[in-house]
Parts: sequence; C-alpha cells; structure tokens
Amino acid sequence: MAFKDGFLWGGATAANQYEGGWNEGGKGESVADHLSSGNVSHPRLITKTIEDDLYYPNHIASDFFHHYKEDIALFAEMGFKVFRMSIAWTRIFPTGEELEPNEEGLKFYDDVFDELKKYGIEPLVTISHYEMPFALTEKYNGWASRKLVDLYLKYATTLFERYKGKVKYWLTFNEINCGCLSLGNYMSLGILNGQTRDFTNQEDDVQLRYQGLHHQFIASALAVEACHNIDPDAKVGCMIAMMPSYAYTCNPIDVLGNQKNMRTLNYYCGDVQVRGKYPSFSKRLWNELGVELEMQPGDEEILMNGKVDFFSFSYYQTSCFTEDDSVDSTSANLIANAKRNPYLKESAWGWQIDPNGLRVTLNELYDRYEIPLMVVENGLGAYDTVESGQIHDPYRIEYLREHIKAMSEAIDDGVDLMGYTPWGCIDIVSASTGEMAKRYGMIYVDSNDNGEGSFARMKKDSFYWYKKVIESNGKDID
Ligand code: BG6
Repeated sequence: MAFKDGFLWGGATAANQYEGGWNEGGKGESVADHLSSGNVSHPRLITKTIEDDLYYPNHIASDFFHHYKEDIALFAEMGFKVFRMSIAWTRIFPTGEELEPNEEGLKFYDDVFDELKKYGIEPLVTISHYEMPFALTEKYNGWASRKLVDLYLKYATTLFERYKGKVKYWLTFNEINCGCLSLGNYMSLGILNGQTRDFTNQEDDVQLRYQGLHHQFIASALAVEACHNIDPDAKVGCMIAMMPSYAYTCNPIDVLGNQKNMRTLNYYCGDVQVRGKYPSFSKRLWNELGVELEMQPGDEEILMNGKVDFFSFSYYQTSCFTEDDSVDSTSANLIANAKRNPYLKESAWGWQIDPNGLRVTLNELYDRYEIPLMVVENGLGAYDTVESGQIHDPYRIEYLREHIKAMSEAIDDGVDLMGYTPWGCIDIVSASTGEMAKRYGMIYVDSNDNGEGSFARMKKDSFYWYKKVIESNGKDID
C-alpha cells in the first residue's frame, strides 16, 4: 500500500450542516439558515423570513457549537491527523458588511483550533461552504454583484491574520463549480432570483451565474495572494465537486457530448484556479450559453497571481452521458438526472458507487494539473439503525475500503495525494435534502429529521475500523 508518511487522514464537515448555534454568539443568518427541511420527495424551501410552521434543520444541526470538545476528543481517538471544517462567515461578519468582526465568533474558532492542537490535529478550513450571509443575498443578489469580492476578501483576510500559525491549510470556496449548475444559484452564489422558493427548481439566469462565478474566481485569487503574503507557510487549495461521467456508448456523439460535459462541469473552474486563466474552450461555451462576461482591466493578472497550491475535491459517484433521452436516470451529488450506469450499484439515494472512478479521476486530475491532490469529501449516505446501543455499518466500511484501495492504486500510478477526509465523519444534516437520516458518519448523533433527540454521540463499527486504517497508515483495511 502506497500512502506516504505524514499522509493526512481525517474527516470533513461544514459549519452550516454541523455547527448549529445559528443565533448564538452574535452569529447572523446565513443562506443555509433560510432552508427548510425536506427529503427526496419534498424539496427544501428557500424562505425569505424564518417561518413558524417550517423546520430549519441547519439551525441546530449536530450542535458542534456545544459539543466541540467531546467531538474533537473522538476524532483524536480515531487518530485524525487533519480535520476539515468551515468557518461560518456570519459568525465573523453577521451581515457581511460590519466594519469590525464579531470577536465572540473569532474566539469560538480560536477555541476549536486550540482544542485540535491539543491532540496534534491540523485544521483544514473552508472559508465559504454554502453559508454566506443571507443579508448579502437580499441586498446584492449575492455574487451577481462585484461588491461581494471586497466583502469576501475582508472576511478572508481577517481569518488569515487572526489564525496565522494556527491554520496551515485553507480552501477558498467549497465546490466552486456548483455555480455551473442551476442548484448553485442560491446555495453557492447567494443569487435569489425573483420569488424562487423551491430549492431544487430555481429560477435560473445563466448570465448572472457565470458572472457570479467570475467574481468568485477573482475573490479566490485575491485571497490566495493575501494568504501567501500574510502567512507564507500556509497553503491554499481550490475545492471542486468532481461529478465524472462516462460516455454511455461508444457512439462518437456520446463521446463528444461527454467530453463537453466533463469540461464544462468538472474542469472549467479548476482550470481557472490552478492555471490562473480561463481554459481555451470557455469562449465557445459562453457563446453557446449566451453569456457575456464582464471583466475589469487587471482581472487576468489577478487570476494569474492567485493560483492555488493544491487541488482538493469531493467525490461520491460517477454517472453516464448520452444524447439518448430514453436511457434510465438516477440522482447524483448536485445532479438530478444522472444517466444510470448498468455496471454499478447505488446508495439508497440513488448515487452510483464507483471506486474505480475515483482512481480514474485522480489520474486524470494529476495528468492535467500536476499539483498535489486531496480528496476532501467522499462517503456513503445511508440509513443506520441503533441496536442495543450499537451501530453495525458494514455497508459504509465496504464503501470506504474500496475507495481507499482505489486511492492507493492511484498513488502507485504516480499521483501525489496529500490526504483523505471522508465526508460527515460525524453525522450531520444533508445539504441536498436537509435530512439527518442520510448519515455519512463513523460517529452517530442521536437526532432525527425534526431535530429531536439527545444529541448523544455513539461510535459505529466504522469508527473502530477507520481507527485501524489510520493507525496502520492505510495498510490494514480489512
Ligand atoms: C457536497 C457538499 O456536495 O456533498 C456537502 O460539499 C454535502 O455540503 C455533500 O453535504 C453530500 O451531499 P448530501 O446532499 O448528501 O448532504
């Protein structure tokens, strides 16, 4: 097995899905705080006010806010070397526009980082993970406005200065390419067109979305530069949702269509953030979409000066691409109608399980970029049952084991892989459906889809298994 010494084993979370304490410690309301609960058949709703008759699962989430010491002790027991978390923008700048940051919010993360340090766990911090201030959505239509660049930069710079020496690894935006999809309007870009209410069926203005993405690229590049100036020892990465697809048939029409899909969904953003410029296929893409990108003088230079140090990504599944509409569909991360691959099994939520696809992805990404890679999200969302105080989750162990094997093969293929942080290492609220029942964790949290429960933490079988994996640096995975 190929994992190098110092390989960063750990787990991943995001503040909006894990932290809770939504209106404590001076925190403001984020876009996630305005998303009601839902499930596969009932989409979450985006509400402009907090409505009394709706439940908002991100408000309490898994209550890390009040359990962080206990949770970090459990991560340490598993042997984590790294813990991926995000900072809630609204805990630092409640509306995004305050002149001074909220000291109580800054102090909370100081306490979290100090606790991690006690156990030698390195924080990997996402600056913005689907939780921008709701006030910026209302006032500016989110990232549609260039004003957001300055506000984000102020927020990011505040973090770099405050946590210099405490945080070595930063990610500028979670799954920035979510903005390439209609679902990204609200969740990723804070764009709330018209009276949009249905989270999974948003009013879509492609021009605004691509302009918003451009603003995020500029903000990300400026943040990378600022971080390098403030703390030369820190490393900043991009974070891309890898949604790889295979051509469904060898019909060249499917192959061409799939190539286009891979470029526009999977590579467009990473190309900008790693290479510091838009890829050659962009102009044609914009033309076809009717997008006229507004760039300011100096933007090209900003992008070139803000290239990331490493490439991180989420990987859950693959799907297929075909021009044939009659082919059966299933769902996938961020995609509603993914064409089903007849060779793969799928999760209870229809996401198709494909460890070999992770190896293919790692090899493709390393061939393309030749910078260190990190898998910062991966895992199986599944129903768990508690039987006499125990949670037996062989399905999760199997999923993780096969993906770890695939990573080790990719390392042997020549990939420089820095680390692995499986998603929702402790149970958290699902981003797409708002359910608690869709569990990824190795640690169970006693709470249901309505936020009822003791919030007690319990170790699943996968907890003991992952501990062994880390202890043996990936050698003992049986
Ligand atoms: C990624 C996001 O898209 O997938 C996470 O970065 C999200 O925030 C994860 O939770 C899994 O998706 P879901 O919908 O199962 O929570």
